[in-house]
Amino acid sequence: MNGPQETEMSQARETTSSRFGFLMLAAGSAIGLGNVWRFPYMAGANGGGLFVLFYLLFLLLLGFPVMCMELAVGRASRRNLYGAFRDLPEKRPSLWRFPAGVAFSGNLILMIMYTTVTGWMLTYFVDFLTGRLAALSTEAELKNQFTSLMNNPGKMSFYMILTVLIGSGICAFGLRRGVERITKILMAGLFVLLSVLSLYALFLPGAGSGMKFYLMPSLPGDTNIFKIAGGAMSQAFFTLSLGIGALEIFGSYTDKKNSLATESILIISCDTLAALLSGILVFAACFSYGIQVDGGPGLVLFSLTGIFNHLPGGRILGSVFFLFLSIAALTTIITVFENLIAFMMDEWHFSRRKAAWVNFLVVGVLSLPCVFGFNIWRHIHPLGTKSTILDFEDWLISDICLPLGSILIVFFCCRDSGWTWKKFLAEVNTGKGLRFPAWLKWYAAVILPVLILYLFGLGIFNRFF
Ligand code: PHE
Repeated sequence: MNGPQETEMSQARETTSSRFGFLMLAAGSAIGLGNVWRFPYMAGANGGGLFVLFYLLFLLLLGFPVMCMELAVGRASRRNLYGAFRDLPEKRPSLWRFPAGVAFSGNLILMIMYTTVTGWMLTYFVDFLTGRLAALSTEAELKNQFTSLMNNPGKMSFYMILTVLIGSGICAFGLRRGVERITKILMAGLFVLLSVLSLYALFLPGAGSGMKFYLMPSLPGDTNIFKIAGGAMSQAFFTLSLGIGALEIFGSYTDKKNSLATESILIISCDTLAALLSGILVFAACFSYGIQVDGGPGLVLFSLTGIFNHLPGGRILGSVFFLFLSIAALTTIITVFENLIAFMMDEWHFSRRKAAWVNFLVVGVLSLPCVFGFNIWRHIHPLGTKSTILDFEDWLISDICLPLGSILIVFFCCRDSGWTWKKFLAEVNTGKGLRFPAWLKWYAAVILPVLILYLFGLGIFNRFF
């Protein structure tokens, strides 16, 4: 954004410069660590092909309708999620204020884990560039490198704080148009790199078995099928950024020329392509270099370092890849920060600078437990190394906040006390392109929330029992 006057939601709202700009901005926010970091390790830990099948199914059954709803709420209200829930309903608007606030605070929870992992990507970028990773090739060496980073809270804090500083700094200077421009170039670059690398990875020895594991659904031996389904649902919400108004805000910046079902399909397709390509890359590498697929959150780091170190020019390629990945994560961070900042400006009348400062401090401090959860916390915590703070925060956002926030948005669009189905339908179908079918009302109002609630219950059950 270029000035405070443009951020005032009450005034004429800035729109993205073109449809392509809007799509790239929304896709740029959705595409991030969820696709390249989280998707492969979740698929690896949950049996591969079957997880991927559930994931694709949930993108269609859950992701598509919820995305249409988020975008429609944004486009109709021209507000952030909280403001939209306050201003759109004609009857009983006060009913929606508290839950909207809770859903919105999911943005903060997401930030306090996301910044640490983005910091890892930046670290790998710098370490590739300086040649520090060049000699690693065996599984043990690759994993040790990751473990030594986890044991180094100073280094992790440095890169985490750098991430928070860059994200809040860019928002402080108001660069939405700038971000739009960078995102376009970057997304194109990331796609080219992912495509070329995954094509190369397909020809690695052993890649075939990797693809079989990754793409052929098979019934798991000892893995619980419900756990796989629950994991796939949380991944679908996480990757599409649904439930906390992160996409809703882009709806509020777009014009009414195209139907929102068409826009949703395009965003989902870009996001899914990025995830599927990352999966090819990671699983081909794992099977080719003998890396276990259930390696957890470090999987993408050690498997890809393995690939780059076997490639001629791998050091350069590795640094470019981790640079792009860091920027993809940063674009997500910037858009989520922008959301938090816009909220503070609208609701609390903070200036842009002040809101950026407050976010820098709050997110910076609240992200520290995640960093210390890999080292200091493990030494003092009586339960030891069983689980990390990252793991807990990831569960809180992906299994709790995003599904619950999505149900809230679904209710808001379907209920007469909310925005009403009729108004939602009119908004989502404004513009050229695919229609959102009116007969889906029963699916949206009843089956969809039940399905999400069921999987939400599973997330809790799987964690505690
Ligand atoms: N979709 C983002 C990613 O894949 C993460 C995200 C989740 C962003 C929820 C905003 C809201 O990296």
